[in-house]
Amino acid sequence: MWAEKLGKQLGRPTRSVGGWLVSKLLTVRNQVLEENAVQLCGIQPGDTVLELGHGPGLGLQSAAKLLTEPTGHLIGVDYSEYMHQMASERVKDLVASGKVTLHHCDVAAMPLDNSTVDKVFHCNCYYFWPDLRKGASEIHRVMKPGGLMVTTLRLSNVAAMAAKRVMPGENWRPEAYMAALRESGFTDVRIEDKQLENVTFQAIYATALK
Ligand SMILES: C[S@@+](CC[C@H](N)C(=O)[O-])C[C@H]1O[C@@H](n2cnc3c(N)ncnc32)[C@H](O)[C@@H]1O
Repeated sequence: MWAEKLGKQLGRPTRSVGGWLVSKLLTVRNQVLEENAVQLCGIQPGDTVLELGHGPGLGLQSAAKLLTEPTGHLIGVDYSEYMHQMASERVKDLVASGKVTLHHCDVAAMPLDNSTVDKVFHCNCYYFWPDLRKGASEIHRVMKPGGLMVTTLRLSNVAAMAAKRVMPGENWRPEAYMAALRESGFTDVRIEDKQLENVTFQAIYATALK
């Protein structure tokens, strides 16, 4: 019962005590994953960058700092209204200046034109998608040819949560997501173990072939 409730809040936080607690947990626990996803996708100052499932918005703050050229633009999508509002508040000056655009929408249906995004990153997000192939195809659609996507995760934590049924089904497995990426037109899909001083995490990479 508690696992199902936690899974619901992690997958789509609501404005509630549970959602607030989850937002604090995400802020404390996942900054390192967010910052590393930003680093690993090799953002250039004039890129158009997209974060999927940004949650409270820490990764948006990191990525925006790298987009120093006028053409550099950051887009964020999240289908939790609570997270959309929380992140909008966190980066309100960047939204006001036009550097950042946030969409309250599903990853599987983004209001973005075809082949317009250079880099995509996301953390702790794909395990909650009901249809990995739909999500992966939509990411591929919006990416420019040769664009890079990076997702970071702590596999041991994710596997432990899945074993407690926090995430139902098998979509949490990197192999499932990587298969969906390949089927959707990505190439050079691979996973790497990363070790920082006291943190171990994984990074999945995929390049949009078009
Ligand atoms: C576990 S939280 C992770 C938040 C942040 N990336 C982090 O690592 O701390 C998952 C986030 O992805 C969002 N999300 C999950 N599935 C989504 C979907 N299909 N479309 C848009 N957002 C989604 C949720 O609303 C939530 O904010």
